[in-house]
Amino acid sequence: MRVYHTIAELRSALAGASRPVLVPTMGGLHEGHLSLVRVAAAAGRPVVTSIFVNRLQFAPSEDFARYPRTLDRDVELLEGAGCDVVFAPTEVELYPEPQLFKVLPSAQLSAVLEGAVRPDFFTGVCTVVLKLLHIVQPHAAIFGKKDYQQLLVLRAMARQLTLPVAISAAETVRASDGLALSSRNTYLTDEQRRQAPELYATLCQMAGRLREGVSAQQVEADALRILTARGWRPDYVAVRRQADLGSADGQEPQVILAAATLGSTRLIDNVEV
Ligand code: PAF
Repeated sequence: MRVYHTIAELRSALAGASRPVLVPTMGGLHEGHLSLVRVAAAAGRPVVTSIFVNRLQFAPSEDFARYPRTLDRDVELLEGAGCDVVFAPTEVELYPEPQLFKVLPSAQLSAVLEGAVRPDFFTGVCTVVLKLLHIVQPHAAIFGKKDYQQLLVLRAMARQLTLPVAISAAETVRASDGLALSSRNTYLTDEQRRQAPELYATLCQMAGRLREGVSAQQVEADALRILTARGWRPDYVAVRRQADLGSADGQEPQVILAAATLGSTRLIDNVEV
């Protein structure tokens, strides 16, 4: 496995090889990322993993400064997972000048849920992913379903901008107690870590009640009340259509999405119904 920090080195390394599969990450890697790399490796093409903590997708009040930066460990883990090339650019390499041209995603998909709480988040994500796609020119790019809305926004970007790339999804990887793996889990204290699986457990209970015919509004209101009573600060708990995150009418496949803060750690999760 080779590690490159500049676009020029990466491009010359990839020249002449078959188009790779790209796994974009912000590092702080865990088993969830490695599962994306394994899915990518199964495609029989070179696997490129990018590691870049993208300032554009963080609001000034968010955790850009404390986001885990563990490059040496990430590189070791990637080597074991079957990655061929790591692209870990510096900020100056990816943003040599202020990034004034940005991707403006559709408000329908990106102004709701995460986007309602983090207004510039999807613009930041789309802009960096579009840049990475231009740099790597992959055949496919793989994203985890844990960031469900991000996946839908990026799929829509690829479709609307006619990008020559397949956007693939991989399942969320969970700890044995149900907590979705996330680089941000490292912020949790031991006590919060013990409590954190409540988020997924609540989503699973909601899914059960929806299947029993309880209305989405009732299920959402009860979940918000339960999480709040247990000390979480939920931003949203919402039952939506899987296809476009529109209001769920119960006729089409649904997904329950949630974001809630425990202590100083904001966690997101979702469950398809
Ligand atoms: O999901 C992430 O880790 C990031 O949002 C991504 C897609 C790597 C863009 O910075």
